[in-house]
Amino acid sequence: MTTAREIPDLLSNAFAADPYSAYRVLRDEAPLVWHEGMQSYVVSRYEDVARVFKDPVFTTANYDWQLEPVHGRTILQLSGREHAVRRALVAPAFRGAELQERFLPVIERNSAALIDGFRRTGRVDLVADYSTRFPINVIVDMLGLDQADHARFHRWYTAIVAFLGNISGDPDVVTAGERTRREFTEYMLPIIRDRRANPGDDLLSTLCRAEIDGTAMSDEDIRAFCSLLLAAGGETTDKAVAALFANLLRHPDQLAAVRADRSLIPAAFAETLRYTPPVHMIMRQPAEDVALSGGVVRAGRTVTALIGAANRDPARYDRPDDFDVHRADLTTATAFSAAAEHVAFALGRHFCVGALLARTEVEVGANQLLDAMPDPRLPDGFTPVEKGVFTRGPASLPLTFTPV
Ligand code: HEM
Repeated sequence: MTTAREIPDLLSNAFAADPYSAYRVLRDEAPLVWHEGMQSYVVSRYEDVARVFKDPVFTTANYDWQLEPVHGRTILQLSGREHAVRRALVAPAFRGAELQERFLPVIERNSAALIDGFRRTGRVDLVADYSTRFPINVIVDMLGLDQADHARFHRWYTAIVAFLGNISGDPDVVTAGERTRREFTEYMLPIIRDRRANPGDDLLSTLCRAEIDGTAMSDEDIRAFCSLLLAAGGETTDKAVAALFANLLRHPDQLAAVRADRSLIPAAFAETLRYTPPVHMIMRQPAEDVALSGGVVRAGRTVTALIGAANRDPARYDRPDDFDVHRADLTTATAFSAAAEHVAFALGRHFCVGALLARTEVEVGANQLLDAMPDPRLPDGFTPVEKGVFTRGPASLPLTFTPV
């Protein structure tokens, strides 16, 4: 096994500026490496990352310390039957008829409202004015909460995601995360109690009513799940929408192809998830010693799976560093299911519950944005800059366009 001294440091500024070059070195020379600062092994090859997600020996006990202090106990920490029942309680709301008939209009109206805010001006920062707002507005609207509280939701989910990605252990981030849990609890519990007494046609009422084999969710279960939804459904899709446009703007021929044939949007989104995933790192803790490429991981140690590295593994993808919406080795039909080839939504039992919701949001959003902006342009010489290590996406996309 190689030591961390020979490879780029995941906590360095150089890594934050360009993780993709570092991923190459890790995959080639240090497929299993111990990072002292993170107190974690790091794996980067596709086959190892996929195994970490799929093999039940890799537990999600890491979320006990990584997320429970901000969310409380959530589905991410559960395993076995308990996890299966909880997933079955919440999953129907995020697929099929519920998604297409009940929530599609919510998605369409929230995207349209944001676009109406800038469509006649001919200019927009697609990150600040659209992508950081759209998915969180959708979740808030789906839950039947008050959109006037947007600023609070945004502050809360930013604090939650910072807590999750606090690999350097910044104490201010810990304090802000704990405060968020208290504030969110005070906000949500009265609303949940009221919704039980006066159910409506919203996701929160659905969660209050949901029952499988005599198991229902307590107020605390629902509060914790809503907290998870704000972060899981807000931050990720936010970065996905922005990254999709950043990638297309950097490849004008592909932007033109997608504009001309909108049925390419899901393929462009799938390729964006592979090429520039919103979540770059997911942790696990093996219950037993496990052999991976390059050595053995001891039971109970933390393993960090590098999604961004696995998605560009040349052993899995042809020309992995090229963005190509037409690529043959990424199947769009499975890209939003647990049979996906990319690992942006993880794989296995904890595969993202919101993958189809994210796909619908991106399809609706991209279509409406392409309709509103016939000729989006970045300023001359401007190259979109990605920010973030744990989660990652374009910092800003200042566009001008001819109003239609
Ligand atoms: C492009 C957008 C998204 C990305 C890249 C993404 C990514 C992920 C990843 C990597 C996981 C696995 C975490 C793990 O195994 O430790 C996950 C799980 C999850 N995601 Fe997403 N997500 C996205 C959108 C959403 C949306 C819109 C929702 C809202 C419903 C959502 C809700 C969840 C939930 C509840 C889980 C936990 C599932 C479980 O533990 O069984 N995600 N997501």
